[in-house]
Amino acid sequence: MAAHRIWLCYSSVTGNTKKLAEYMASCLKEKGYDLGFGKTADMKELEEAELYIMAFWCRRSGVDDMSLSFLEKCSDKNILAIGTMSGDSVGNYGKRVSNNVRMAVEERNNCVGVWLCQGSADLKRVQKRMLRPKDDPFYVSPEKYQTYVDRQNRPDESDLEAATAYAVECIEKHFSHG
Ligand SMILES: Cc1cc2nc3c(=O)[nH]c(=O)nc-3n(C[C@H](O)[C@H](O)[C@H](O)COP(=O)(O)O)c2cc1C
Repeated sequence: MAAHRIWLCYSSVTGNTKKLAEYMASCLKEKGYDLGFGKTADMKELEEAELYIMAFWCRRSGVDDMSLSFLEKCSDKNILAIGTMSGDSVGNYGKRVSNNVRMAVEERNNCVGVWLCQGSADLKRVQKRMLRPKDDPFYVSPEKYQTYVDRQNRPDESDLEAATAYAVECIEKHFSHG
């Protein structure tokens, strides 16, 4: 197991993805994986690894710009995409985001898996969307706003555990087949 080099890079603005990436990194290290870990922004040159975990945040129903530029550096790499998002991560919207992310990875690489972890939103941004016209696709109603308020403590411990369990499962499956 320790022979396989893995790189976990993360992009994060408000801290949700950083929290998830740090949790995952400490679990993977504890399990004995040979893990490189750092911010995507600091990875000027692509580090050598057999598998990359790209921890991203969801932007425009896809991958944030820093993670997109990471993907542009990669070709024929094995990439596991684990992201946080403030929209509903498990419903139809989550499925759409998941498909978009998979397509972005598979443009030039092998997608080992995609996991979307529930994150919190910047409530100030959401409040601005409440001021948009009601027929605007980005309009947020008072009821919808409440769902964002309810997610303010996400990702929580069980979100972090679920994302990490998925990552471990994908890694083990990948290397047992490789
Ligand atoms: C400019 C911007 C665009 C965003 N677009 C989306 C989006 O399309 N869908 C979504 O579910 N969340 C969206 N979000 C919310 C973030 O994906 C979410 O808060 C994420 O957990 C932030 O991660 P971070 O705390 O690591 O920066 C957006 C946030 C920002 C700032």
